[in-house]
Formats: sequence, C-alpha cells, structure tokens
Amino acid sequence: MFIMIFDYLRYNNTGVFALPSKRENFGSRLGFVMATVGSAVGLGNVWRFPTVVAENGGGAFVLLYLAMILLIGLPTMIAELTLGRAGSRNIVGVFKNLSPRRQKWWLIGLLPLLATFMVLSFYAVVAGWSILYVASSLLGITAGLSAEGLEELFASLSGSYLYPFMGQIFFIAVTVGIVVVGVRKGIERWVKVLMPGIFILLLVLFVRTLFLDGALEGLVWFFRPDFGGLSVNTALQAVGQVFFSFSLGMGAIITYGSYLARDADIPLNSLYISAADLGVAILSGLIVIPTLFAFGISPQTGPGLIFITLPAIFNTLPWSALWTVIFFTLLTFAALTSAVSLLEVMVAYLIEERNWPRAFSAAGAGFIVFIASIPAALSQGPVKSLRLAGLDFFSFLDFTASNILLPLGGLLIIIFIGWVWGTARAGAEISSGGSPFRWFLPWSVLVRIVVPLAIAYILVSGLFF
Ligand code: TRP
Repeated sequence: MFIMIFDYLRYNNTGVFALPSKRENFGSRLGFVMATVGSAVGLGNVWRFPTVVAENGGGAFVLLYLAMILLIGLPTMIAELTLGRAGSRNIVGVFKNLSPRRQKWWLIGLLPLLATFMVLSFYAVVAGWSILYVASSLLGITAGLSAEGLEELFASLSGSYLYPFMGQIFFIAVTVGIVVVGVRKGIERWVKVLMPGIFILLLVLFVRTLFLDGALEGLVWFFRPDFGGLSVNTALQAVGQVFFSFSLGMGAIITYGSYLARDADIPLNSLYISAADLGVAILSGLIVIPTLFAFGISPQTGPGLIFITLPAIFNTLPWSALWTVIFFTLLTFAALTSAVSLLEVMVAYLIEERNWPRAFSAAGAGFIVFIASIPAALSQGPVKSLRLAGLDFFSFLDFTASNILLPLGGLLIIIFIGWVWGTARAGAEISSGGSPFRWFLPWSVLVRIVVPLAIAYILVSGLFF
C-alpha cells in the first residue's frame, strides 16, 4: 500500500520518461483505434466467443467473461499499450529497453513469439474455412441447404485433403503481403470500412434471429446465469477468451502501442477498443446461440459451429447466397487484420533484433506458420486421430496458446510493469500525452496486486485441479 502511495506521489511529480519515438506512427487518432480494433476484433469474437459460450453453459460464462474483462482485460490493455509506447520497440526490444541493466527480462518476450506461431497456425485454418465459404456460396452450394445439409457441407469441406490447404495458403499469403507493405499503409485505410461493415451485417443477422421460432429460448440461455455449472476450469476458459479476444498477453498490443502517437489518450483508447471488441462478441453470441436452439444444432459442435449456424440463418433470407458471400468476405477481412497483428509481433522482432529485412522476415515467419497449420487442419478433417494430450491437434494448439501461454505471458508482462518498470513510470508515460490519468490509483492496485493474483490463481487451479 505504501509503495503505491509513494508511486502515486512520484507519478504526480515526474515528467516524461519515454524515449522520443522515431518509428512509423499511425496517421490519425481514429486510424490507431481502428487498427487496434482491427487486431482485437476477429475470429475470436465471431467464431471463438460463441463456441466457448455454447460449450460452457451460457449465461454464467457470459457474466464471468464480463467480470474478467473489467478485472483483467481492461487494465492489461492499458498496461500493454503504455509499455509499447514507452519502449517503442518490438516485444523483446521493449523489455531490453525498459528493464534495469543486466536483468534478463527480455526473455519474457520469447514466450509470446512461441504463442504467435501457435495462435496463427490454427487461426489460419479457421480463416481458410471462411474463404472456402465465400467460394462455396459464390458457387451457390450453400443456398437452400437445411441445418443438416450445412453440417454435412462443413464436414466434407473441412474433411478434404485439398480445400482447407488452399484456403490456408491463400490467407497466410495475403497476411504476409500486408505485413510486407507495413502496418500503417497495410491496414489503417481499410479497417475504417471493414469494422462498420461487419457490425452492420451482424445487426441484420441479429434482427433476423429474433424472429426465428425457438430463438427466445436461446436468448434466455445466453442471459440467465446458472452458477451451478461454474468451475475453475470455466474461469480459465473465460480468462483465455479475454486474452485471445483482446489480443493480449503476447505483445501484439505492445507492438501496436509502439506505433501510438505521443499525445494519444491511452486509457480512453483502451476503453473504446475494449467496448468495440466486447460489442462484436456479444452480438455474435446473440446470433449464434439462439440459432442453435431454433435449428436444433448441438452446442458441443465445436470449431465448425458458426459455419453451420450462420449460413442457416442466411438461408432464411431472400438472396441468401449474396448475404453469405458478403458475410464471409467481411469475416475473412476481420481475420486478416488480426492475423496481421499476430505476424507483426514476429516480424518486428526479426527486423529490430535480428536485422532481417522486412519482406524476408514476413515470408519466413509465414512459411513456418503454414507448416504448423497443416497438422492443425488435418486434425479437424481427414486425420481426426492426430491427437496430443487428449485433444485433437487443433484444439491442443488453441488450448495451450489461449488458456496457458497468453495468460502466462500476460502475467509476466503485468508483473514487469507493476513491479520492475513500475506503475509510476507507466503513469508518467500515460499522462505525458497531456491528459491526466484519472484512474491511476485503482489501476495500479489492479496491475500490481489484483491482476497477477487472479491470473496466477486461475492458471494454477484451472490446470491442476
Ligand atoms: N484478437 C484476435 C481475435 O479476436 C486474435 C488476435 C490477434 C490475437 N492478435 C492476437 C490473439 C494476439 C492473441 C494474441 O480474433
């Protein structure tokens, strides 16, 4: 407590700690928020959130998710952006720049580099499916199919030895292309169109869902908490989902923070980004869950869930093929802006710490991701026996990265900010832009005590008990 008050006093008396930044900045304030929203909003919201809500029993999980956002997600988002802007470097360089001399905190940075590969390799599989759905709806294959027909379609597309790989390669190649062009030129421009587009389309879907027979039951299931089913494992799933959806725990947000302009208001931006991310997730849940009930689809369907439910709703609308094409095109773009932020973590590291040229770094990292994504795709399709630690390979990557590596990375980053670099410096960095940081005290209590204890407790008990 004393340390915190001391920090607070120090913080109020300090000037700017940060290094002047000569890196590429985002062109406008809106551009930065949009790009970061572009990183946060992706398959995590539209694909992963409804799937974990369905698997974890609905309402109680949703509440737990909200609590984890307030308790862990938002404070960590502020912390990562601040660290990134102050350090002005990639994930490893940030720690080298900001840690006391001769301490090896930069080793923390290696964990996220591993997580990047794991996340990207199953992310590319799902994005590849999304591309396959663009193609199939263009060819008129999805139109008119019943829910069972759509289940069969998903099984046959994902079960093929050819199609998933075509989707993946295409997706990874475009991601690499954007990263080569550079973060700012590559994404800032079109995220501004993309995000509103996807939001509007989700709203249309939501309204249509409300009128489906049986949808009401699903809405109730989504909102009514049944705390009986909660366990520490559910809490671990909720924390994993927060980290995944907010792009936290592995340096993506740190890397984006390093491109943030000096006078940007970090807490306010964090609030916007979190609200947008949460909004898209909730909206997707409100579409997918009632649809499950209306069409009698099992909540335990797994990763293919949205590829069955969403076309099923489109098929109840006139011009269903058109809607399906537009939707999966937008989803693919949303996945792209997220994948770019994942790959950029690797690439910024290779460029700044290893002096590799940008194009070479991006292509090399993309190639390794593609190799890792092959077994992930096979385990969801033709080679279901590809299993590790009791999970199929795809789920193994997802579980290990989202529920272990990201929270662990987040824990180390938060400890670094709270106790090594210090919340006083963080506070000075935040207010150096001109607007005072009004929530400094509650934020530092969260960052130094609540967040680390909560993550450590949930990780240990969720994994071992
Ligand atoms: N947040 C993105 C999504 O919801 C995925 C993502 C992008 C991510 N960057 C990340 C996840 C960094 C973890 C870490 O789809």
